[in-house]
Amino acid sequence: MADNVILVGLMGAGKSTVGRLLAKRLGWTFVDLDSEIEKDAGWTIPEIFAEEGEAGFRAREREAIAALNGRTGLVIATGGGAVVDPENRERLQALGPVFWLDVSPEIAAERTGSGSGRPLLSAEADPVARLTALLEARREAYADGAIQIDADGPAEAIVAAIMAHLPEHQST
Ligand code: S3P
Repeated sequence: MADNVILVGLMGAGKSTVGRLLAKRLGWTFVDLDSEIEKDAGWTIPEIFAEEGEAGFRAREREAIAALNGRTGLVIATGGGAVVDPENRERLQALGPVFWLDVSPEIAAERTGSGSGRPLLSAEADPVARLTALLEARREAYADGAIQIDADGPAEAIVAAIMAHLPEHQST
């Protein structure tokens, strides 16, 4: 039996939408790491980037991931850059199966729209190019120890694809 389920992948992969649906399906608790970081900081993600830079945000992200140690029954949506750090990957893999929601940059750009709330996208004239570059830079980190799920389709289909890898958690 899996203790937790972890979702990783690019901004716009659908981690939060899919995570919420999946948690409901499993009867588990949904944890959105970015929201945890915002709650702890008392700032939004763009405010954290503005006040402390990306390095400050990454330090908070590492803390939030370390704080999950020992918890169970969670569906965890990570931020798109969380698994770039090998120690974060190790910690996340220790919590349960990791699913890489593999979305194409074109679909991710459609889903993220103007990129508001996402400092790494919001000032971009060409979000598809930016997301393509991020995907190429992160591809190995996303794939490391993860089950790859095609995430270009609707959230329900992504949930079903993940559930197929969790046979012991299927109620019918
Ligand atoms: C980031 C993705 C964001 C958030 C932060 C940095 C990234 O999360 O953690 O803006 O580095 O790709 P989402 O993937 O939930 O948008």
